[in-house]
Amino acid sequence: MTRPSQVLPQLAVLLLFLLVSSSAASTLDDTCKSVSASNKDLAYDYCVKFFQACKGSATADKRGLAVIATKIIRAAAVSTGRRIATIKASQGDDRRIQGPLADCDELYSSAVDQLDAAARGISSGKFQDALTNLSAAADAPQTCEEGFRELGVSSPLADEDSKFSKECSIALAVTNTL
Ligand SMILES: *[C@@H]1O[C@H](CO)[C@@H](O)[C@H](O)[C@H]1NC(C)=O
Repeated sequence: MTRPSQVLPQLAVLLLFLLVSSSAASTLDDTCKSVSASNKDLAYDYCVKFFQACKGSATADKRGLAVIATKIIRAAAVSTGRRIATIKASQGDDRRIQGPLADCDELYSSAVDQLDAAARGISSGKFQDALTNLSAAADAPQTCEEGFRELGVSSPLADEDSKFSKECSIALAVTNTL
């Protein structure tokens, strides 16, 4: 038979684990609830899924979540930059889109700098500066799309742009609550 003295420490560890995991889960939960309440285009599930891309989200506090959001978006901006390079290399026929593509390339690489600045701002408590940087980054997809629209060609980056836009809204909404 197992003696209580052996079981108790295990119970204590289990309890502690439950406490820690439930309080952390509720930071993510609360954050995504308020994000979806403040922005009709951002569903609660979408928000939770977005953060689940980073393991640290489960235990992060609100400020940590804001930093994580900027890092996830930064990775998206870098990957869109790679996608632009691929399209540039393969679109020999349609020279018209080279101009807007180059603009988008610049927009996304400057978004990377803005997001780095935003992460630093959030970490050091300069939330207003961070919001300025995030807003600048959040403008990239719209400006990118406009370039194609003005030419009357369909955007090869439509999916990336709309996803980036949505993800920036999450980062902005979370940072806004700090
Ligand atoms: C971030 O925002 C601050 C405050 O507005 C600004 O001084 C800084 O230049 C911005 N960072 C970048 C990379 O643009």
